[in-house]
Amino acid sequence: MPDRTDPVLEARGLYHIYRETEVETVALRGAGLVLERASWTSIMGPSGSGKSTLVYVLAGLLEPSGGSVSVDHVDLTRLSPPERARWRRKHVGVVLQRDNLHPLLDVADNISLPLRLEKLPAREIRQRVDQLLEAVGLTARRRHRMGQLSGGETQRAAIAVALAPQPQVLLADEPTGELDEVTASGVLDLLATLRTQEGASILTVTHNPMVDERADHRLVMRDGEVFDAA
Ligand SMILES: Nc1ncnc2c1ncn2[C@@H]1O[C@H](COP(=O)(O)OP(=O)(O)OP(=O)(O)O)[C@@H](O)[C@H]1O
Ligand SMILES: [Mg+2]
Repeated sequence: MPDRTDPVLEARGLYHIYRETEVETVALRGAGLVLERASWTSIMGPSGSGKSTLVYVLAGLLEPSGGSVSVDHVDLTRLSPPERARWRRKHVGVVLQRDNLHPLLDVADNISLPLRLEKLPAREIRQRVDQLLEAVGLTARRRHRMGQLSGGETQRAAIAVALAPQPQVLLADEPTGELDEVTASGVLDLLATLRTQEGASILTVTHNPMVDERADHRLVMRDGEVFDAA
């Protein structure tokens, strides 16, 4: 049984307001959640309910207007921007809806980039890259630039990049977005395997019931709030 008293990620009372010149959008209204170690949590919710905003905030990529996010008992909202960037690189992997991979680098270089930023020894980086390429089935595509990959390959490459620093938490925004059912199922198998092998806690946000079915905790998001699924 995972230890419920020692969650890997804890978010409380998150608010986020996007301010345009004339318009204010309240994207998060008191959202909170707890991720257990080595668990898979899914959030479903209608378009515009705040799912991507939540992922950005949990990943430390967007500073919330209010509330707190702790990963392994470190409060991300209290770190300075450079401290947060470093912390995030090491502890939280993110697969974004609009991908964050370098289009001109090949797959292997995209995976090794965060490891080089951590200044790991070259031999260790090579081993980790080989291991991840193998795990996501892209060994034969290692020298393809991101733009030369299919949708499913791009999704799998993004997962490999996110997992490179062995984060405790993997946040994935629509990991099966725009994939056909067979390819989507392959990506979900991969997440399930990596969770077991790497012991990472996975949070997926999605419209796709196929993703939801794989999770062991199901949540729903409505109007910027997170609820237990009925
Ligand atoms: N950069 C932004 N500036 C202003 N408003 C934004 C911005 N990003 C999102 N929003 C607004 O915040 C709300 C929540 O958006 P968000 O992208 O988090 O929704 P979502 O649940 O991920 O939707 P989808 O399922 O379509 O991806 C929406 O009303 C959206 O229009
Ligand atoms: Mg979204």
